Amino acid sequence: MALDPATAPWWTRATVYQVYPRSFGDGDGDGVGDLRGVLAHLDHLEALGVEAVWLSPVYPSPMRDGGYDVADYQGVDPLFGTLADLDALIAALHARGMKLILDVVLNHTSDAHPWFQASRRSPDDPKRDWYWWRPPRPGFRGGEPGAEPTNWRGYFGGPAWTYDATADAYYLHLFDTSQPDLNWEHPPVRRALFEMLRWWLARGVDGFRMDVINLVSKDLPLRDAPDRGPDGLGNGFPFVESGPRIHEFLQELHREVLGSAGTVLLTVGEMLGVTPEQAVAFTDPERREVDMVFTFEHVTLDQAPGDKFDVRPLPLPLLKGTLARWQEALADRGWNSLYLGNHDQPRAVSRFGDDRPAWRERSAKALATVLHLHRGTPFVYQGEELGMPNHPFASLDAFQDVESTNYVRFARTLGLSDDAILARLNAKSRDHARTPVPWTAAPDGGFGSATPWLPLHPDHATFAADAQRADPHSVLHHYRRLIALRRALPVVALGGFRPIAPDHERLWAFERRLGDEALLVVANCSDADLPLAGTGVTVPYGAELLLGNLRPEDAPGDRGTLRGWEARVLRIEAGRDRAQGEGTTGDEPARTAMPLVDDLRRTVRTGGRRFTRDERNER
Ligand code: GLC
Repeated sequence: MALDPATAPWWTRATVYQVYPRSFGDGDGDGVGDLRGVLAHLDHLEALGVEAVWLSPVYPSPMRDGGYDVADYQGVDPLFGTLADLDALIAALHARGMKLILDVVLNHTSDAHPWFQASRRSPDDPKRDWYWWRPPRPGFRGGEPGAEPTNWRGYFGGPAWTYDATADAYYLHLFDTSQPDLNWEHPPVRRALFEMLRWWLARGVDGFRMDVINLVSKDLPLRDAPDRGPDGLGNGFPFVESGPRIHEFLQELHREVLGSAGTVLLTVGEMLGVTPEQAVAFTDPERREVDMVFTFEHVTLDQAPGDKFDVRPLPLPLLKGTLARWQEALADRGWNSLYLGNHDQPRAVSRFGDDRPAWRERSAKALATVLHLHRGTPFVYQGEELGMPNHPFASLDAFQDVESTNYVRFARTLGLSDDAILARLNAKSRDHARTPVPWTAAPDGGFGSATPWLPLHPDHATFAADAQRADPHSVLHHYRRLIALRRALPVVALGGFRPIAPDHERLWAFERRLGDEALLVVANCSDADLPLAGTGVTVPYGAELLLGNLRPEDAPGDRGTLRGWEARVLRIEAGRDRAQGEGTTGDEPARTAMPLVDDLRRTVRTGGRRFTRDERNER
């Protein structure tokens, strides 16, 4: 799609920052982060240059799943503050030119939600059909092993059905037992959810991140999956992921809620098991569904099928090839989101980079460079901009997340030793993303509580935000420059994408092109020097280094060699490169001096004007 820089929606050149409020800042010292804590760190977000904040749920909740178990869609849990605090946050963000994207959980509620409490009370209750109730399997009594209406496994392990004695029936929950699925087939459910979303828009939110939204249409009738795994359960996901009415439901939501907003919102649908081809249908603007989706494909490459904790080696060609396929599939229609981490994933630098002290900073910058130079909307997860690594959890009882604690039980039934389970959780637990953000080197990391709900990283002083702010070569400043680059250069936001050397095991390289502007991005995803000669990368004459990730004190490689985890963004002149048909190969000296330490201020100043009306008229 030739998106025109003049008319492309704001989110094509914006970067979004995710706040997981439990772990961001603790305003009242009770050990859990809160809205006051978010308000206290808006300078950080503004300086980073992000245009929007995605706020993970703050609704009243029993907190069995970190607040993704919602007991009231239109309030704020006292743990996080008050509705007035949330209004204040929205106003404060707007005052700084930033937007608030609300996380909405529309597939399920908490079992504490009044809708569910009414629903379970009696078969005659008007709310009965709001959830998925089914009698026990014929020939079984409720609660007996095997009596579940279908053999499905839930996403957190264990059966996807729980027997409720009051209702004398089973209810479906694709996640924790405390998260019953809403029945979107029943029109009053959709009406109530849409009304709630309109209420939030009227309060000033600028868009929605829709939790597991492609699970809301189930393939009917609900029925057994053909195969059973070692836990005796079947894989029911194909019956619920992107089901038969999903497009209809999303179009209805768009029509009933988003269309009336009168402003350009950002909507991103978290979608399990979605293919790039399906993503085109979800994000094609003409279909009016969502603006972009969160795919899981690239974050499930390093695991055995069906067991995210069974970690497998991840060859670079597979990772970059997956991102490249999504770039290609959504090049003409639709739009990509770009992310390496969020509150459900381990820390990006530990997973895809190298978190040993010698390489943590540089590999964090290299990964960010590569990701942010793709086409799409980048999402930065809190702490990622500091290069935060995974937490070294010392024992199984240190984990709090329901997915991890369920896994401990399941893995023991497989006969795994506790050490083996600990190694798996230390690679993949969601708790890695949920330890407090370190703002300072103080013992409490500036988080605001003596004993936070999850411990601070023991090395937090080495990557605390305040020291990084004072250091122009920190990971933090590198993110700031990447975010500025996207805003400044239309080729970063909108240019076409072409992978280079797709089979290379250590080199991540690609080109971006928009009209006469072209960028070459190269990154060495290993700790050993990487000569470019023979890789297929050609650095044309006149290439100018826009951004690199070495420090001034780091010994630069020669022009044709990338140092360990070195990444470069080079501006090449597309016309000239093509006309001449040749350039330097990596091992020849280039004509233009390539400053190995970046200073983007000039680029941003000149480039930034390109989006203004005057500049457009001049061109
Ligand atoms: C999404 C959320 C995750 C939550 C799940 C169930 O995947 O990101 O944190 O556990 O949905 O709501």
